[in-house]
This record gives sequence, structure tokens and C-alpha cells, in this order.
Amino acid sequence: MIGRVVVMEPRDYQAWLSGSDGQPLAARGQQLFQQLACVTCHLNDGTGRGPSLAGVYGSKVELANGTGVMADDGYIRESILTPQMKLVSGIPARDADVPGLVNEEGVMSLIEYIKSLPAPAARRRPRRRPRRAPPRGSTMTTTALPAGPISITNSASNRGC
Ligand code: HEC
Repeated sequence: MIGRVVVMEPRDYQAWLSGSDGQPLAARGQQLFQQLACVTCHLNDGTGRGPSLAGVYGSKVELANGTGVMADDGYIRESILTPQMKLVSGIPARDADVPGLVNEEGVMSLIEYIKSLPAPAARRRPRRRPRRAPPRGSTMTTTALPAGPISITNSASNRGC
């Protein structure tokens, strides 16, 4: 028997997987995320029916059965293909059935896309910044003591009586 085995560098393999247009997998995943309506439930701010997927990759997810799981490729894959297997704690299970809609390439693209989402901490930080940052240092320690003026007023009125 004669067969032909094509060995590819990982990068070439990814390019091959992503099809003739050479689109990166994550970009393809982003398209699928819209097309398969994942985006309608997985809003980045967490206000959708599903949890925000931003930063979920590589984090520890608490499951409804009380255990925890590391969100790696396998977990993301499972969440897409067999969502009932591991349910995220505190969130009602979804009824959307995705498996029939994506092929292997689609699943890989979605995983790559989810991996590429920035962690929430990185996104939230700029939002917090506009709040007045408490000044630190010795000057603050002295001015931050409102007890001073109050006791002065008291003693002043005492003196007046
Ligand atoms: C009808 C709403 C809905 C749609 C559509 C949907 N999901 Fe979800 N998804 C959920 C809910 C709810 C959960 C949490 C409960 C669970 O674990 O099943 C979840 C969980 C997940 C998780 C695990 C998240 C975590 O924090 O551990 C991943 C990954 C995921 N979905 C990916 C997808 C992808 C990719 C698609 C599109 C192909 C999709 N989902 C479509 C509602 C949805």
C-alpha cells in the first residue's frame, strides 16, 4: 500500500484549516460567533443569558455540580458541543443546540476566537480609573483628618458660652 502523508508546520496547518482565504482561525471564529448567534447570549458585559466569555479561557469555572474546571480547549469544546455535560454554576442551562451547526473547523475557530477575547480585568480597569483615585502620602494623612476642624468648632463654641 502506498500512501501520502503531508506534514505541516503548525502555522501552515492553521492556515490550511482556515480555508483558501487564509483567514486566521480566530477571525473565522468571530464570524461564526455572530452567525450562530452565540453573541446573542454571550454578551461581553455579562448581561446576556449566557456568561460573558471574555477571559474565560484559562480561568477556573465553577460548575453547578459544585466542582471546578479549568477552561481549556477541551472544556470550551465540550461547552459548545455538549453543553449539558458541564453546567456553569448559577446560570440556567441553555436550550440552544449548536452541535449540528458547526463542523470541526468551526469548533476550532470558535475556540480560537474565545481564547482571543481579552480578560475582563483588562477591560474593566479603564472603566474604574475615572473614579477619583485616593491620593496617597503624608499630605493626605493630615488633610484627611476631619476631626481637627470639628473639635475646633466645638471648643470655640464652648469658649463662647
Ligand atoms: C440561548 C443562549 C445561548 C446561545 C445561543 C449560546 N450559548 Fe453558550 N452558554 C449559554 C449558557 C446559559 C451557558 C451557561 C450554562 C452552561 O454551562 O450551559 C453557556 C455556556 C457556554 C460556555 C461555557 C462558559 C463558561 O463560562 O464556562 C461556552 C464556552 C459557550 N457557552 C460557548 C458558546 C458558543 C461558541 C456558542 C455559539 C456556537 C454559544 N455558546 C451559544 C447560553 C447560550
